[in-house]
Amino acid sequence: MRKMHIKHLVIPLFLLIFMAIFQPIEVLARAPMRFNYVGVDLCKLCHKKKELGDQYDVWANTAHSKAFYTLGTPEAQEVATKVGVINPQQSGKCLRCHSTCHVFTEEEVATDLRLEDGVQCESCHGPGEEYMYAEVMENLEDAKDMGLIMPTEETCRKCHNPESPTWDTEKDITPEGKRVGFYFPLRWKMIEHHKH
Ligand code: HEC
Ligand code: HEC
Ligand code: HEC
Ligand code: HEC
Repeated sequence: MRKMHIKHLVIPLFLLIFMAIFQPIEVLARAPMRFNYVGVDLCKLCHKKKELGDQYDVWANTAHSKAFYTLGTPEAQEVATKVGVINPQQSGKCLRCHSTCHVFTEEEVATDLRLEDGVQCESCHGPGEEYMYAEVMENLEDAKDMGLIMPTEETCRKCHNPESPTWDTEKDITPEGKRVGFYFPLRWKMIEHHKH
């Protein structure tokens, strides 16, 4: 067997080093951007205005704005006890769907928000740090690039699903008379908010 000369290793070695340095940079460049949550009071600054559609008041009158307080009721305590949760207002097992701070996880992710605001705008529309400027939001495509989500039924189903301990497969009735746990057109009617 012939011995491999050191000079045949130079190019492969160089390539390996090159890849080791540049691969992490490439991975970083491809990773989705992360934005911070700013809280409903910031959205309220503009979206309580009549001429923009006053989405704030609509939201404040829906169950979503009270989702944290619901966890403080005797009914919630009963539900919690059954699944081994001691304090539902402190448990990620409940807060992941009843508060924006947890962003669908058991850990608290958005630490600057108030749990009390429950399921606020950013649970559905995404974290507002970069899109919350009027000049960004006036252009929907720019706003989406900066993290704005125009929610669909899929967004709702991140919480309205059988992982909820009070999920009721017969809660809604479709126009065809079928009973389902969540019927989007009906539920959207209950919380719908428009621009004008
Ligand atoms: C500085 C004022 C301001 C703030 C703060 C603000 N918005 Fe807006 N937002 C606007 C304006 C202006 C528009 C464009 C309205 C129009 O086209 O009629 C808009 C549009 C939107 C739209 C609709 C996009 C479209 O084109 O259909 C959504 C959704 C939205 N905002 C959500 C939010 C959320 C959620 C927050 C808080 C994180 C927020 N906004 C904070 C001013 C603001
Ligand atoms: C982050 C989790 C989450 C998301 C996302 C979510 N919801 Fe909810 N929703 C809840 C919780 C929790 C409640 C119960 C609040 C309470 O009663 O305190 C609720 C309650 C409701 C209610 C009130 C039902 C009633 O009988 O009063 C409607 C309507 C509703 N959601 C519609 C929607 C729609 C439509 C979407 C999607 C556009 C959606 N939800 C997205 C968590 C969520
Ligand atoms: C996977 C998401 C999810 C989790 C986790 C979750 N909930 Fe909910 N919860 C909901 C949704 C969605 C509703 C609204 C139900 C509807 O309108 O169909 C709700 C409603 C409720 C209600 C009001 C009763 C009702 O049926 O509307 C209580 C009480 C409640 N949840 C307690 C809890 C407790 C306690 C925990 C933790 C042990 C918890 N939830 C965990 C999504 C969740
Ligand atoms: C439960 C989920 C949910 C919450 C909470 C929520 N939205 Fe929305 N929002 C939606 C959905 C769904 C649409 C309709 C998207 C579409 O038309 O494609 C929408 C549409 C909008 C629009 C555009 C309306 C139009 O006529 O084009 C604005 C503005 C808006 N939301 C602002 C807000 C603000 C501000 C808050 C908080 C005060 C909020 N939303 C809370 C789900 C939500």
